[in-house]
Amino acid sequence: MPAILLLNGPNLNLLGTREPGVYGATTLADVEAQCREVAQRLGFTLEAFQSNHEGALIDRLHEAGQRFKTGELAGVVFNPGAYTHTSIALFDAISGVKPLPVIEVHISNVHAREAFRHHSYISPAAAGVVVGFGTDGYRLAIEGLAAKARAA
Ligand code: DQA
Repeated sequence: MPAILLLNGPNLNLLGTREPGVYGATTLADVEAQCREVAQRLGFTLEAFQSNHEGALIDRLHEAGQRFKTGELAGVVFNPGAYTHTSIALFDAISGVKPLPVIEVHISNVHAREAFRHHSYISPAAAGVVVGFGTDGYRLAIEGLAAKARAA
């Protein structure tokens, strides 16, 4: 059974207590459990990794690129947190492991927030983008990724 990698960037370990008015009350552990259920229903296993460090996220993307080639991994659902708006290195990493499909997720509608959140370095390299559906966006991204994997 191929895996889907759920990748979360900086500060997302604080989900549930971090600005609940913006990000909701669901914890990262809850999100991961919900995603695991959805992935399994669709015929995938789920692996979850969160890091506050850019390099650790890049290393996981490189590894995911290798595992995509062997058919072990179907793709990545990735919330890069604030690195979305700053990281050319993450853009290069995703570009460098193509055709690995990476779906970018944002819990909040970044376009309705501060101007510095309107630009994403990740979107031009992403296979799809899910924005503003709360933590339910992770489920939507898994369903979209699964549909892409089936179509491929
Ligand atoms: C976020 C949006 C980013 O602007 C912010 O820095 C985050 C979370 C979201 O999921 O809405 O950390 O990616």
